[in-house]
Amino acid sequence: MNEQLIYATLGEEGFTQLAAAFYRRVKEDDLIGPMYPQEDWSGAEQRLRDFFLFRFGADQRYLLKRGHPRLRARHLPFEIGQAEAQRWVSLMTEAADETIADPQIRAELLEFFAQVADFLRNKPE
Ligand code: HEM
Repeated sequence: MNEQLIYATLGEEGFTQLAAAFYRRVKEDDLIGPMYPQEDWSGAEQRLRDFFLFRFGADQRYLLKRGHPRLRARHLPFEIGQAEAQRWVSLMTEAADETIADPQIRAELLEFFAQVADFLRNKPE
């Protein structure tokens, strides 16, 4: 995955739009929507956005606010099986279709998201 090219193409604005389009869908989702903090949607959206900027653009905001991502540990409080991981990826795919024009960049990002989502599964099926 070419992080630098992805960041150069999307920029902060592109990742901000991606996170916003994703959370518009998560809010309405019957399976994973209820797992999220219902009183802090904008905070959750910002955490994901900042994580993207950190992972792809080495932007320090996420680290300063949240420390090292430790994504697996941070997802342990939520029961994530195959269905939940698939739903996350499917909502993110819709968000990427809506906000990312370049098909190559979209495909690389979605491949990365699918791998991380699989790695975050923590529920015996
Ligand atoms: C596999 C399905 C997934 C589910 C059900 C899930 C669910 C959640 C939930 C409920 C939260 C708490 C929201 C908050 O307060 O911030 C969260 C946080 C977060 N998720 Fe996921 N997530 C999934 C996959 C992913 C993937 C694939 C990524 C990255 C590519 C990711 C990145 C994050 C980040 C960065 C946070 C904020 C962590 C923090 O700083 O506290 N998640 N996720």
